[in-house]
Amino acid sequence: MTMRTLYRQAPWLVITGVIVLLASLFVTFPAVAKPPMQQTEQYCLTCHGDSTLSMTLKSGETLSLYVSQDQLDHSVHSNKGIECEACHNDISTYPHPELKYETKRELSLNYYKTCEKCHSDNYAKAQDSMHAQVASEGNTEAPICTDCHGHHDTRKPDEPRTLVSETCSKCHSEIVDAYKQSVHGAALIADGNPDVPVCTDCHGVHNIQDPRTVQFRMESPELCAGCHADKKLMDKYGLSSDVYSIYKRSWHGVDISVYKARWGAVWHDSAVCTDCHGVHDMKKASDPTSKVNPKNLLSTCQKCHPTAGPNWTDAWTGHNEISLARTPTLFYVDKFYTSFTPFILWICIIYVLLQIIHSIVDRVRSTLS
Ligand code: HEC
Ligand code: HEC
Ligand code: HEC
Ligand code: HEC
Ligand code: HEC
Ligand code: HEC
Ligand code: HEC
Ligand code: HEC
Ligand code: HEC
Repeated sequence: MTMRTLYRQAPWLVITGVIVLLASLFVTFPAVAKPPMQQTEQYCLTCHGDSTLSMTLKSGETLSLYVSQDQLDHSVHSNKGIECEACHNDISTYPHPELKYETKRELSLNYYKTCEKCHSDNYAKAQDSMHAQVASEGNTEAPICTDCHGHHDTRKPDEPRTLVSETCSKCHSEIVDAYKQSVHGAALIADGNPDVPVCTDCHGVHNIQDPRTVQFRMESPELCAGCHADKKLMDKYGLSSDVYSIYKRSWHGVDISVYKARWGAVWHDSAVCTDCHGVHDMKKASDPTSKVNPKNLLSTCQKCHPTAGPNWTDAWTGHNEISLARTPTLFYVDKFYTSFTPFILWICIIYVLLQIIHSIVDRVRSTLS
């Protein structure tokens, strides 16, 4: 019996047969192409599981070729079934292709590019960063994915949250040390406080920009306002949430706003939050080492007001509205001016009105006579 006659006699049998055949192709095909999970890993580790395996590069450096099972067990990738070949896609058996790179760093700078395959978003962002910029200028120490995340031991990068500053401290240790002593860093380290900022909250993560530009400086008060103008958050710590709105109305704040609106990218020294509080080393105002502690406040102002005398800091009304309780002298001065100024104005107006009436009366009198 030919296919044709079979089809004529029992068409559904043939159609079902074809469907079953096609379906079985789809089901079995991937299983043949990809070995069961952990098989590649086991194969590669027959050699790379040997802790003494190493090679000497052309530069003379020794590269350890050991890949420990322990690292893999903790890696986010190995746990998701992402194995050696997913990253080393040019290596599937031994012998391997000849190694083209002469130094360890050269190897890293080329192998890390494999991350782009699955993390193209972060990869693209990173190309735009300050770190990539200094790398393109020839600085081989600028971090690539694997400097911050590792390669065989990649973990969740923000668990615990202190891990973030530890990551940066490999290269920015002085700043991280200052940060750890600051009111923000101390709260993070002492009790894992999730409300305080870590490095990446202020700088971003993969697209870190130069923070010393005019733009960053002018916009830095808004960075602080993200938390310090949040009433619910600040109430938790008994802190005022008006610091930003009052700053914006202060001489310094108005000055910065006018500059930003008028000239944009022109450097201006009027004080932003970090000029008074410090950048990575800000402390509670009551801390004697704080730049805004009454003991140190004058010298903080003198950075920009070098001729300021001992009474200068009285000009600082604080981040608080003028009040009888906190600033009695200013309160009365303020009250005096707010009542005296309209009083004088009214007298002037009445005087001018009387003058006008007087001249009209005079003119009428002279035409009558
Ligand atoms: C038979 C032992 C053996 C097996 C199996 C093996 N390797 Fe290697 N591997 C070596 C040796 C030896 C070197 C040192 C350089 C060389 O001889 O090519 C090396 C070097 C490497 C390197 C660094 C240098 C380079 O060429 O890039 C990588 C990466 C690597 N192996 C990955 C793998 C992966 C992935 C697997 C599994 C698919 C694997 N290896 C399986 C022995 C082995
Ligand atoms: C998530 C991607 C990824 C996976 C999965 C991965 N590697 Fe690697 N591997 C890399 C990168 C990137 C480098 C270059 C690392 C650097 O910056 O030094 C590297 C380097 C190596 C080296 C050179 C020595 C070293 O540590 O620098 C060997 C050997 C190696 N890998 C073997 C393996 C083996 C075997 C497996 C599987 C058990 C594996 N790799 C899984 C990304 C990966
Ligand atoms: C074959 C695809 C693939 C490659 C290549 C790859 N990753 Fe991943 N990566 C993943 C997957 C899948 C996850 C798990 C995502 C999840 O749990 O939501 C992950 C998770 C991560 C995480 C943790 C994210 C989190 O918040 O839990 C980091 C960090 C990471 N990868 C970095 C890297 C780095 C660095 C490289 C290059 C050395 C790399 N990855 C290469 C697929 C890949
Ligand atoms: C300067 C250090 C640094 C570099 C370089 C870096 N990362 Fe990250 N990455 C981090 C930190 C820190 C976090 C956690 C961010 C947070 O929670 O604030 C993170 C988060 C991640 C995450 C999880 C969150 C998300 O955005 O999905 C992935 C995935 C990741 N990075 C991949 C990469 C890849 C791929 C590269 C290379 C293109 C890279 N990273 C380069 C430090 C870095
Ligand atoms: C592997 C080393 C390395 C790591 C890790 C690293 N950086 Fe950098 N970073 C550099 C180098 C190098 C520069 C360029 C310094 C220069 O201007 O010459 C730089 C520049 C910067 C700049 C720009 C200001 C400047 O001094 O040029 C900022 C901001 C910055 N890094 C923040 C971070 C943060 C936040 C982290 C952690 C998430 C981090 N970095 C992790 C090496 C590193
Ligand atoms: C509350 C916000 C904030 C946090 C948190 C923060 N920074 Fe900064 N950072 C800034 C500001 C604002 C500047 C610009 C300072 C200036 O005007 O010079 C800066 C400047 C920098 C610079 C370049 C200038 C310099 O002083 O060398 C680096 C590098 C840097 N920060 C790294 C870090 C690292 C690493 C961490 C984490 C420990 C961190 N920052 C945490 C706000 C922050
Ligand atoms: C980063 C530099 C900087 C710091 C720090 C600073 N100021 Fe100023 N301040 C300025 C600039 C710039 C002006 C605007 C001067 C102008 O427009 O002529 C100004 C203006 C003022 C004015 C009004 C105008 C005037 O010159 O009399 C007062 C009052 C003042 N600052 C008080 C303070 C006090 C009090 C402190 C310390 C708590 C302080 N400043 C810290 C830069 C600073
Ligand atoms: C992610 C939120 C967040 C950001 C962003 C932030 N802070 Fe804070 N800040 C806090 C929290 C929460 C506290 C209270 C910590 C505590 O008391 O344990 C605090 C405390 C402070 C204190 C101590 C107040 C006192 O006297 O007790 C100062 C000063 C301060 N921050 C200044 C700044 C400045 C300036 C910036 C911007 C450069 C900034 N903060 C950015 C959350 C933030
Ligand atoms: C001209 C200097 C100066 C500038 C600019 C400045 N501060 Fe302050 N700040 C102080 C001084 C002095 C104190 C302590 C006395 C007080 O509370 O008035 C203080 C206190 C604080 C406190 C503690 C308030 C409390 O309730 O105890 C916080 C939080 C704070 N500042 C945040 C900021 C933020 C955010 C900015 C920017 C929007 C900023 N400061 C700008 C000088 C300054």
